[in-house]
Amino acid sequence: MSDARPILHMLEPNKHVSPFDVNMAADAGYKTIVPYTNVSLDEVRPLVQDAIFSRPPDYGVRTGFFFGGKDAILALDMIKAAQDALVPPFQLSTFADPAGSFTTAAGMVALVEQVLKQKLGRSLKGTKVAIFGATGVVGFASSIISALEGADVQLVAHRGVDRVIKAAAVSKERFGVDLEPVAGETPEQKADIIANAEIIYAAAAAGVQVVSKEDKERAKKLLVVADVNAVPPPGVEGMELFMNGEQIPGCDALGVGPLAIGDVKYKTQSGLLKQMINATEAQHYDFRDAFKTARGLIS
Ligand SMILES: NC(=O)c1ccc[n+]([C@@H]2O[C@H](COP(=O)([O-])OP(=O)(O)OC[C@H]3O[C@@H](n4cnc5c(N)ncnc54)[C@H](OP(=O)(O)O)[C@@H]3O)[C@@H](O)[C@H]2O)c1
Repeated sequence: MSDARPILHMLEPNKHVSPFDVNMAADAGYKTIVPYTNVSLDEVRPLVQDAIFSRPPDYGVRTGFFFGGKDAILALDMIKAAQDALVPPFQLSTFADPAGSFTTAAGMVALVEQVLKQKLGRSLKGTKVAIFGATGVVGFASSIISALEGADVQLVAHRGVDRVIKAAAVSKERFGVDLEPVAGETPEQKADIIANAEIIYAAAAAGVQVVSKEDKERAKKLLVVADVNAVPPPGVEGMELFMNGEQIPGCDALGVGPLAIGDVKYKTQSGLLKQMINATEAQHYDFRDAFKTARGLIS
C-alpha cells in the first residue's frame, strides 16, 4: 500500500457538497478533502487530468474523486468522464454516490434479499417488485440493482408516466435491463399495483406515505416491503424504524425499515471509501459495487 497522503476531491454539480459525505470521507481516513461545487460534466476531464499528473502512478492510487449531486445519470456520466480522462500509467480512483442514493439502494436491496432468503427461502429472481419514488435517485438505483438480480421490476409513476418511461429506456440502454413503467396516479391504478406486488420499495420523498393501511389490506401477494423514509409519517403505514424481517402489522408481509437500511448504507459507504484508500490499483465504484459490498456486510 502506498504511503502517499490520501486526498479526496469531491465534485458536486449543485451548490453544496454534502456534509454527510465529507464526514464519512474524513472518518474513513482521507486526510485532505477538497470540495468543488457547481461542477459541470465537461469540467470533470480537465480536473482529473490536473490531478493525475501531479502524483507518480503509485501515489495516484491514493487520490480519489467522489461524485455527489441529485442526478444518478449525471453521476454515472461523471464517473465515465473521469475514467476516460485517465492517462495510463497515471491513475486515480472514483466513487459515485449522489445524495447517498447508490449506497442506500444497495443497503435496501441487500436487506430485502436477505429477508427473502432467510425467512421465505426465495431470491429476487422472478420476484415482482414495485418501486414507489421510481423517478428519485434511490428508486432509480434500486430498480437496476434488482433487475440485474433477475427481479421483474415495475417503476410506479405518481404524476405522469413519461419520466418513468424515460428511466426505463435509459436503464435498458446503459444496463441492458427491462423495467416496466406503470401509471400509479389514481387510487385504482395504485391498488392494482399493490395487489400484484411481491416486494414493494417505498422510496418516495421524505415524509410521504405511499402505502396506507387500506393498501396493505389489498396486498395479498406481498412478501417483503422496504421503506427508506425515516421522516414521519412512515412511507409504509405501521413500519418501524429498525424493522428487519419482522411482520408488518395489518398484513402478512415482512418489513425492512429505514434505520436498518441506513445502518447498512453507512457501513457500505464507509467500507468503499476505506477500500479506495487502501487499494493498490485504482478503484471505480457505482451502485453495483455498493450492492456487492452491502451483501458482503450482511451475509
Ligand atoms: N434510510 C436511509 O439511509 C436513507 C438514505 C438516503 C435517502 N433516504 C430517503 O430515501 C427517499 C428517497 O430519496 P431520494 O434522494 O431518492 O429522493 P428524490 O430523488 O427527491 O426522489 C423522491 C421520489 O419521491 C417521489 N414523490 C414525491 N412526492 C410523492 C408523492 N406524494 N407520492 C409518491 N411519490 C412521491 C418523487 O416523484 P417526482 O419525481 O414525481 O416528484 C421521486 O420519485 C427519501 O425519503 C429520503 O429521505 C433514506
